Amino acid sequence: MQRTYIKDLKNKVGEEVSVSGWVDVRRDHGKLIFVDLRDMSGKVQAVALPNHKEAVAIASTIRSEWVIEVLGKVNPRPEKLVNKNEENGAIEMEITSIVVLNEAITPALDVNGDGKEIDEEVRLKYRYLDLRRPRMQKNIRNRHKVMLLARNLLEKEGFCEIETPNLTIATAEGSKNFIVPSRLEPGKFYALPQAPQQYKQLLMAAGFEKYFQFARCFRDEDTRGDRQPEFTQMDLEMSFATEEDVMRINEKTLIETIQTIYPHKKIQQIPFPVITYKEAIEKYGSDKPDIRTDKNDPDLLAFAWIVDFPMFEKGDDGKWTFTHNPFSGTKPESYNDLMNKENIENIMAAQYDITLNGSEIGGGSIRNHRPEALRKVLEIMGFSDEKIEKEYGHMLKAFETGTPPHGGIAWGLDRLIMILENEPNIREVIAFAKTGEGKDLMMNAPSEVSPEQLRELRLKIDKPEKKNN
Ligand code: AMO
Repeated sequence: MQRTYIKDLKNKVGEEVSVSGWVDVRRDHGKLIFVDLRDMSGKVQAVALPNHKEAVAIASTIRSEWVIEVLGKVNPRPEKLVNKNEENGAIEMEITSIVVLNEAITPALDVNGDGKEIDEEVRLKYRYLDLRRPRMQKNIRNRHKVMLLARNLLEKEGFCEIETPNLTIATAEGSKNFIVPSRLEPGKFYALPQAPQQYKQLLMAAGFEKYFQFARCFRDEDTRGDRQPEFTQMDLEMSFATEEDVMRINEKTLIETIQTIYPHKKIQQIPFPVITYKEAIEKYGSDKPDIRTDKNDPDLLAFAWIVDFPMFEKGDDGKWTFTHNPFSGTKPESYNDLMNKENIENIMAAQYDITLNGSEIGGGSIRNHRPEALRKVLEIMGFSDEKIEKEYGHMLKAFETGTPPHGGIAWGLDRLIMILENEPNIREVIAFAKTGEGKDLMMNAPSEVSPEQLRELRLKIDKPEKKNN
């Protein structure tokens, strides 16, 4: 018999059906055995009655998290047993037979509650169990819905999703790079991208005009509640665009996505308020101010654009460095100062960040598309001609071939979903998250590799000295 999803059972009252899923709980009531069964679509109560002896015999052996197939009839529940709070509270399944598809050992953790009381290391180690809980199922499924809807909205606006490499070279986005040794060229390394920044700009050189990508980014930095060593950006770039153009299309996409998938949420102000960096610091003491009018309302979303950032700041070594990334362009009124390398502290970047409830959920800029302007930025940071050629030569060359003016943005997708799901950290919205120490406890990564692999890569490990205790 063809499988019926549990959500469809209420339309099959009186029919014989086959349902497959997990045993949520089994309850013995003397001669009756109740089995709460769940699949990806919902939960239903099934009951083995004494007139189906074989079914009762099997039902009495099954335990939570066993995977079973149940054949039975969908019956209406007697009026006084109807549970209005449950989706299938008006029906139950009368079991005629049970096939055990797989048994389960006693689960290492309870998968029914919201799981917040369970040690997170245990949850991450047994993530496949942890993900069975309704809260995690909801988070991950809503994440999918946001991605799907944003993707479709951007497609309608003429954007093309293009994948860019993960094996690439080190880029300067402010963190350390994860590196990958090359087998074919021993002693050489790829770096995992901190963002697809250079590739997306090169796609503008390539004439795509409107690009986006749900891109995995890798940054070797200390992990925090809102940071993971690998995370996902909704990365976007467009040609012939102004700051307002980029802000408008992103604002529209965010609003439509949220209003469709989270209709109960209230966006505090539309269009999103635009606050200058100076004003944010002076008024709120932060460049990611929480401007919610009611901080107790979990369904209030206060977006803000933060604009007019300084382009350069002095690093700890006293040298000028970029505030966001070296590819940001200047505001038109600062262009002459950049080209003359004058008045550096007052040069303004065509940079915009987007904040939500006090968290930075995205950022981007209009870029320098003229090679001479990018070169000036790199010179102001004190880079030698040799370094500029080696690390940025390909960008400068591309900009000499007729690259249109362009700009873009990237949202931190995990952070956005974390806030939309009212979760306290991004691990709760990432299927296979890493610990604060960057470990995957389930797969046991990072891990050692075999001596053969090291030999093949011509690598030697300088082992830390063993402590004598
Ligand atoms: P930026 O470095 O600001 O910009 O990153 C964009 C957004 O990504 C999120 N984010 C993170 N989320 C989780 N874990 C992390 N470790 C992490 N780091 C950053 C933040 C941030 O706002 N290439 C530019 C974008 C551009 O200019 O178009 C970039 O990567 O929400």
